[in-house]
Amino acid sequence: MAVERTLSIIKPDAVAKNVIGKIISRFEDNGLRIAAARMKLLSQKEAEGFYAVHRERPFFNDLVKFMISGPVMIMVLEGENAISQNRNLMGATDPKKADKGTIRADFAESIDANAVHGSDGPDTAATEIAYFFPALDVYTR
Ligand code: CMP
Repeated sequence: MAVERTLSIIKPDAVAKNVIGKIISRFEDNGLRIAAARMKLLSQKEAEGFYAVHRERPFFNDLVKFMISGPVMIMVLEGENAISQNRNLMGATDPKKADKGTIRADFAESIDANAVHGSDGPDTAATEIAYFFPALDVYTR
């Protein structure tokens, strides 16, 4: 097994519901450590840049609008197989399809307001982490 880093975002819906701590507990209770964290209200440009790979998708404008509707909690999670571990803990993108006990099944309402984002692979994780955090602000413990 390899120690990895992944980017996690607690989205505006979950921040508004006041469940940041509950979601972070899921990560910590499952062997992931927070290596960096920052709460931020994204600008439209920042959200568009972050989701640039989805630019041509029909849901892009709604996604950006939602992501700037309130502050988000942006984190780097670190641990054994952090990328897949985080994705397992999040559950399917559509909360209606997410397994019982996953973050999205428990805290999310819809495919747009789906509580959390997590990097989908090593290359994406590296790009997404660098988008928000300078290397010096990410702490290995
Ligand atoms: P996220 O993991 O943040 O990555 C892109 C987001 O687009 C996704 O979560 C969803 O919140 C949102 N989205 C909306 N509609 C779709 C869709 N049909 N397929 C994938 N993602 C979607």
